Amino acid sequence: MLCTKCGSRNVIIHRRYSGQYLCKECFIKAIQKKVLKDIKKYKLIKKSDKVLVALSGGKDSTTVIDILSILAERNIIELEVITIDEGIGDYRKKGIQYASKTCKELGIPQHIFSFKKHFKVTIDEIMASKPPRKACTYCGVLRRWIINKEAEKLGADKIATGHNLDDEVQAIVMNYLEGNIENLIRIGPTTYSQKFVTKIKPLREIPEEEVTAYVMAKGLNVHLEECPYRKTSFRKKIGTILTKLSEDHPTILYSTLRGHEKIRKALKKELEGESILRACIRCGQPAARDLCRACTLLNEIGRLEDEIHSNNR
Ligand code: FES
Ligand code: ZN
Repeated sequence: MLCTKCGSRNVIIHRRYSGQYLCKECFIKAIQKKVLKDIKKYKLIKKSDKVLVALSGGKDSTTVIDILSILAERNIIELEVITIDEGIGDYRKKGIQYASKTCKELGIPQHIFSFKKHFKVTIDEIMASKPPRKACTYCGVLRRWIINKEAEKLGADKIATGHNLDDEVQAIVMNYLEGNIENLIRIGPTTYSQKFVTKIKPLREIPEEEVTAYVMAKGLNVHLEECPYRKTSFRKKIGTILTKLSEDHPTILYSTLRGHEKIRKALKKELEGESILRACIRCGQPAARDLCRACTLLNEIGRLEDEIHSNNR
């Protein structure tokens, strides 16, 4: 097969959803072009924004920083990195080493914060206490709590995360199956709320296998290990089903995403004003009820001590 764009013989990828064959150079260019185009199309970033990339050292967030550094080099944006240490054995330690190496190479300032310092507990310690929920719930909610709080302190205009197409569609299907309509309407290219720094997802329309191919094609330095808690997650089960479905229906991820965009518009109108955020009575962060999600979870497992949050106010 020849590259659909330049005719070269060195094809490295076949896009089954579009029929294209691409060589390494054309593939790298195509990914960068698509991401930069989506940034424009969805107005993810504006000139002079200070963008904080949530970098774990994994393939997705490393791809985000690699592509956003093109905009930083052109002095269009200011780029910094936030890395969270959730306290997941060696897995997280290695990830942080990869993330730090990338920041050093690109000359981007990195800020590292840990669960241990903020909450006085790590994910490993929470899970060892046999809590009622799965690791990903604690990990996701507590990580977002730190990122939101620190991004504001760092004066960031945007927080860029590494969510790819597969992640987004998994989230749509998961929330749909769980009947979680409030979460369903929050899924989108940006998560805007007056009370949080806006989150953006530059890779939202890039399939996971293309993110992996990009990392390999560019020889990026990434941590490829899987989180030890992922095996048991609902997300992983949904991901396996969607990957299987995509074998016979290669456009299914894009059609689910587009369908969700239409549903979201309709639902947003319907539910407008239903989830007004106020300040959490313990930590002051935005909350839908008296306590925010992070404080609710910590309270549930007996970890909401006064000093934990008073340190962080
Ligand atoms: Fe869920 Fe690591 S805690 S993937
Ligand atoms: Zn709180």
